[in-house]
Amino acid sequence: MMTNWRNFMLLCRDWGFFQLINHGESETIDAMKTVTEEFFKLPLEEKMKCAQLPNTIEGYGQAFVVSEEQKLDWGDMMFILPLPIALRNFRFWPQNPQSFRETLEEYSNKLHGVSMKLFKLMSINLGVEPETISKKFVNFTQGIRMNYYPPCPEAGKVLGLAPHSDATGLTLLVQVNEVQGLQIRKNSKWVPIKPIHGSIIVNIGDVMEIMSNGEYRSIEHRAVVNFEKERLSIAAFHNPGLEAMIGPMAELVKEKTPKYKTIDAQDYVKLVINSKLDGKSLIDHMKIQ
Ligand code: OGA
Ligand code: NI
Repeated sequence: MMTNWRNFMLLCRDWGFFQLINHGESETIDAMKTVTEEFFKLPLEEKMKCAQLPNTIEGYGQAFVVSEEQKLDWGDMMFILPLPIALRNFRFWPQNPQSFRETLEEYSNKLHGVSMKLFKLMSINLGVEPETISKKFVNFTQGIRMNYYPPCPEAGKVLGLAPHSDATGLTLLVQVNEVQGLQIRKNSKWVPIKPIHGSIIVNIGDVMEIMSNGEYRSIEHRAVVNFEKERLSIAAFHNPGLEAMIGPMAELVKEKTPKYKTIDAQDYVKLVINSKLDGKSLIDHMKIQ
């Protein structure tokens, strides 16, 4: 995993975004890439067997549809919540291609493992006990979103995914094919990310920014589309459990003033939805002025 400690600190603090190589999970990732490509290639009626239902976030469809008038992003997605196991809803798990379910299950486990290793490194890096962050993620939830961005002849006029920071704890993103499109906002400029083959792109989410009391940053990013090639990616979001409190870690605010409010996870989810609607960033709602 990560060897250069000083670098790791800089990446989490200044960038909130980095590519992880030599993670040891290439085989599982490649298998997941294959079934994802196969799934999106299926005829629409086949994919619709796993379609989102009214008031569900899981299933095949579009991200964040909140109104009839809204301009949608240029992409389809398939969203599944593999963890906690007790809340799995197999209704949304494709059975075509045949190996989809077992591949997703394996992928879910392996990426969970990677996130736990990163939490340990981050805890040490923040100067708290190694298990502090993972303890907060006990009973945690994991969502996996497969994104499909079709080519667009007017690629300059649309976005695959509008600018956002991930409301989650930690996102592990994998580029399925070689088509670039991910950009991060750094010093008010959009910087394209060139994916390293086989890497996992690690993205600090809003929850981690809050938990670290602002030591780590969740960075704004977006996905642009290509005018002749399709692009695919898989994002795995890792979140604290539904009974968790979201706020700066107690260990970090013993001597320092908390910069963010503490609210329970259910209220946090409501805030995520409301900030989507009012266009204000979630972090702004959580900051103590
Ligand atoms: C996301 C995301 C970027 C991409 O799913 O939250 O930022 O490249 N995806 O698909
Ligand atoms: Ni994102």
